[in-house]
Amino acid sequence: MERKILFPQVDGLLHGGDYNPEQWLDRPDILEEDVRMMKKAGINSATLGVFSWAAYEPSEGEYHFEWLTDCIERLYQNGIYTILATPSGARPAWLDQKYPEAMRVDSYGVRYHHGVRENHCMSSPVFREKVQNIITRLHGAAGDHPGIIQWHISNEFGGECYCPLCVKRFRSYLKEKFDGDIEKLNHAWWTPFWSHQYSDFEQIEPPYQNGEYSIMGLKLEWRRFTTWNMTDYMNFEIDILRKLTPGRPVTTNFMQLYNGLDYRVMAQSLDMISWDSYPAFHNDYESLADTMAHNAFDHAVMRSMKKDRPFMLMESAPGLVNWHRFNKLKRPGIHRLFSLHALGCGSDTVQYFQWRKSRGSYEQFHGAVVDHLGTDDTRVFREVEKLGEELKKLKAISGSLVKAKAALILDWDVMWAVEDMRGLSDETKRYAETCEEIYRAFVRLGVDVDVISQTDPFDDYRVIAAPMLYLLKEGVAERMSDFVERGGELLATYLTGYVDADTLCYLNGFPGDGLNDLFGIVSEEIDTLYPTDRNGVSFSDDGTEGEVRDYAERLRVKDARVLGVYTRDFYAGEPAVTVRQKGRGHAWYLGCRMDMAHTKELLAGMLDNAGVERKDLPPDVEFHVRACDGHRYEFYFNMGTETAAVHGVTGQDLLTEKTVEGTLVLESMGAAVIATEREE
Ligand code: GLA
Ligand code: ZN
Repeated sequence: MERKILFPQVDGLLHGGDYNPEQWLDRPDILEEDVRMMKKAGINSATLGVFSWAAYEPSEGEYHFEWLTDCIERLYQNGIYTILATPSGARPAWLDQKYPEAMRVDSYGVRYHHGVRENHCMSSPVFREKVQNIITRLHGAAGDHPGIIQWHISNEFGGECYCPLCVKRFRSYLKEKFDGDIEKLNHAWWTPFWSHQYSDFEQIEPPYQNGEYSIMGLKLEWRRFTTWNMTDYMNFEIDILRKLTPGRPVTTNFMQLYNGLDYRVMAQSLDMISWDSYPAFHNDYESLADTMAHNAFDHAVMRSMKKDRPFMLMESAPGLVNWHRFNKLKRPGIHRLFSLHALGCGSDTVQYFQWRKSRGSYEQFHGAVVDHLGTDDTRVFREVEKLGEELKKLKAISGSLVKAKAALILDWDVMWAVEDMRGLSDETKRYAETCEEIYRAFVRLGVDVDVISQTDPFDDYRVIAAPMLYLLKEGVAERMSDFVERGGELLATYLTGYVDADTLCYLNGFPGDGLNDLFGIVSEEIDTLYPTDRNGVSFSDDGTEGEVRDYAERLRVKDARVLGVYTRDFYAGEPAVTVRQKGRGHAWYLGCRMDMAHTKELLAGMLDNAGVERKDLPPDVEFHVRACDGHRYEFYFNMGTETAAVHGVTGQDLLTEKTVEGTLVLESMGAAVIATEREE
């Protein structure tokens, strides 16, 4: 496995963040001081221009780029590279005043007023024309500067627009999808139900909140269209940039597992994946270890979109944010732990929102490296500075990769279809959370996991878990069957294979499309439990009993070994967990939402069958591995409150520069990066 260096110009890992000099143009002293402090903190990159349109073009056709070019040059002279954003994250007031079609329309059909950000109509030709103009001029003024290492497209794409222009595009999208045949659409959307047949594509409207929200197929197609349209817009910007600066990488910053856009579709157009991570540290509902594992899951989602290169932690808060329910300070040491953890999960950058706190407006109390106090003599600054020093010691890990042998299937289409389906309980469906819990169980077993789509190749994996795969696409059942045949260990759960890609139910038994043959069971009914209801699963092998909440399927066994049976209610004694051997692998079926300790046992059994090494970790210690070119970098994080000893660790600790032979001792909140010479 070869190293994949994201930015050859930069010596080592990227350490930087959003920088907004346009807010301080009347304070040259502050701009000078910024550079001094950036160098002190070991900053080697700054993201410029994310929301600078009005500074570039204060009125239509009047341009000012000098402040930007001065800034890029000043940073460059001081060894700091620029990530240059296109300014389309927010529109100047003159634009909305003159071209109101650029403003979005909401799901009741009401046009937005001017304001806020990231709320444009992505279809609007005038908006696109204005963006093209400003990007072209931005490039003309600054684009060829050697200090620029990347384009940052707009900012955190999101939302949807219901304006007439978008409705028109939606209709042509549907026409193309259904080959111009309205009967195909009527069949796919099962429109005879409630007399909802269409006779013309022109009759179709988006799922307005005060309109047609009752057709599942329409709702799903609207969500897919929103991704399609956003991607089309993003590609419009990318095409301009690729022509102007061929070879310069592009990215856009994603937001966690943002529900509104299928990031995997967008990722195809990007050179690198980057995302913005803001965990609610020290909250009152989970342990620090859980907060971190939760974030590890998000990192894995991002990393897995481009497995052959590191991802970027584009934004994180050095101190605190201003939009959590409670904006608690990151406790001393957390910033370090969080940042090193991102690297362990496959990032080659640690970047912040933001370098300096804004003096006024919406985010004036959002954390930054430099506070309103304006000095480097703060706790947060010192922590950032210290991290900057440590990042230099980790240069060797640049370009190394996480090579997971286990995968978890999570799809936006499934997330949307499960959310929209009328059934179960909206309070407990928790599709993404369920996927995440299973991810966390793998992490507790010391195993790295990719998070992939059902349509991604399975070849790199020996173990795959596909929780709640409600919407099953064509050909996937067959690929799953091949995977197991060839020795793969596959886990499916309740709510698998109920509907096809259009949301039509599979007939002749769930899980559909032949999956019931693979698992050797048919799911006859699904029971939704009230939050206080419990059932149990009794395992005959070890005599233990798992706890069941929320969902329980009644299974008919065709050809599978029953591992556990329900302990209560009218289906007590009936199968709850089964396994079927096929070829050299096994197809495991978990018919209910079972407690994590027992689910983890199932996963351990699968890993052992597949010969995937797992680790015996002390509680609250997290482990990840990156590798390349015959090198292996093991990351250990102690999220617990006690000192922990991890056995069987040998190598060079890159942070302490000491050799570890056998036992690694990690104090509370401690982290270690152990380099060894074995890649596997
Ligand atoms: C997002 C945005 C930033 C900023 C931060 C605040 O990530 O991209 O512009 O608003 O949130 O946390
Ligand atoms: Zn629109």
